Amino acid sequence: MTNMVYLVPIFIVLCAFAWIYLRWLKVRNYWAERGVPHLPPNPILGSLTFLQQKNAGVWMRHMYETFKTPYIGIWLFWRPALIINTPELARQVLTKDSANFRDRFVSGGDSDPIGKLNLFTVKDPDWTNIRRRLTATFTASKLRILQDYIRSKSKELAQRLKRERESRIHLKKLYSDYTTDVIGASAFGVTCDATLTGKSHLKTVAEEFSHYSILRGIGWSSLFFFPELVDVFRFKMFPKTSTDYFKRVFKAAVAQREANHGETGEPKDLLDALLKIKKESEERNEGYSEDFIVAQAAIFLSGGYDTSASLLAFLTYELAYHPEVQEKLYEHLLEAKNQNGSDDFTSEQLADMTYLNGVIKEGLRKYSPMSWLDRVAAEDYRIDDNLTIKAGTPVYVNGIGMHYDPDYFPDPDKFDPNRFLPENEKNIKSYTYMPFGEGPRICIGLRFGMMTVRFAMVSVFLNYKVVPFPGMPIPIDMTIDKRGIFYSPGEAICVEFIPRA
Ligand code: HEM
Repeated sequence: MTNMVYLVPIFIVLCAFAWIYLRWLKVRNYWAERGVPHLPPNPILGSLTFLQQKNAGVWMRHMYETFKTPYIGIWLFWRPALIINTPELARQVLTKDSANFRDRFVSGGDSDPIGKLNLFTVKDPDWTNIRRRLTATFTASKLRILQDYIRSKSKELAQRLKRERESRIHLKKLYSDYTTDVIGASAFGVTCDATLTGKSHLKTVAEEFSHYSILRGIGWSSLFFFPELVDVFRFKMFPKTSTDYFKRVFKAAVAQREANHGETGEPKDLLDALLKIKKESEERNEGYSEDFIVAQAAIFLSGGYDTSASLLAFLTYELAYHPEVQEKLYEHLLEAKNQNGSDDFTSEQLADMTYLNGVIKEGLRKYSPMSWLDRVAAEDYRIDDNLTIKAGTPVYVNGIGMHYDPDYFPDPDKFDPNRFLPENEKNIKSYTYMPFGEGPRICIGLRFGMMTVRFAMVSVFLNYKVVPFPGMPIPIDMTIDKRGIFYSPGEAICVEFIPRA
């Protein structure tokens, strides 16, 4: 009888192990049974063994180059997911059958309303509703209103360089100061001086998003790859100090705008648009909470500042190593300045500058800040004659893999803006170049981001020549942030700035 007391728990433990083992066998054979190419999964992490060791975009490139197949089976821990590698399948998922891929897999938890309700993570039907209303704010005509402010900030960049160029300037930091000023003013109505001074409270808050700690790393990985854990451990997309600050600033901005305008009229910037949604939702009793509105401002700041700043840093770095491209860009900008009579360009003039845009687009090809596109199948979906994926399967479109495929972009490591001159750009195959994504969930800030980057490039490259800083790696040897989900420099990259006049 005494022996039985010990045998029962041992039996239970053995049964549990046997159950887990059988489940594991099923998981492990999942893609093999379906004839889908894959690498054997790790028993705990599945295919995510690269986390914290390799940037997710670099890993995607590696997978693309290793398999060269239309799709690859992977596991997010034990959950099967699919990487898509061809333009045809990308078009299917992102556009043609987007009704079945409305949502991203990434999710915020119930304990984190700002992380859960922002446009990037929010699920349908809220997404359709909010996206429709916000889209109107990002049209070229609405953004034109912001251009004077952005231009003045870009000129401050050149002023700052005049003061600091003798010291070692950390490119990503420099440009983050500029992009937080630009987006902070547009989304939160807060005017800051980080571009000139390198300091602002909003900048400190924005930096907290990207500040790495083991816990934040685990939290972010859960948001993207294991959302069920987010609520269990109450992980947050933005640190609490940031969301508290957002709420405070937002309240102050609302009070100030309402005092100034009385009625919230036609939106002039992102903050006005958000206030309009808040007002309409109160009138219609839609129940969009203040958190819901603050969540949109927070994602504009976090989605906008880091992407544009990384891109500007990579572009400046590449140009230092490509003097011929830089000279051509300078001549092109100088000619435009002489024709215009000043360097006070409008956003339309910048959008028409073919070489400038070629340089930026080539930067976006090589260094897409968000280098893969995340979706989840709402219902079972037929990928091709051989494969149907189950409802709930995460799907990742491997944008960066295609950006580096020599069949689409010959000599892909070469920084060559000529690829994007109008006569060549028209030959680029659709859905092989997607730095802003595609389909209904394409980046809402595309025009805003491009405008911000164009103004900065003009101000910096009309006034300065950049050359490599001694001891820095050549672009191909530069490390990409190993711990990050987004493609950004993994080290402090610097160049030397030499005044043009
Ligand atoms: C160089 C700058 C930028 C790049 C490369 C970029 C890239 C992207 C990409 C690839 C996506 C995912 C698209 C998809 O899944 O199909 C995205 C989504 C998004 N981006 Fe951007 N972005 C940039 C700037 C901005 C800016 C300035 C803002 C805000 C003002 C912004 C706000 C967002 C938001 C809110 C989403 C989610 C849209 C939705 O799901 O409806 N981005 N971005």
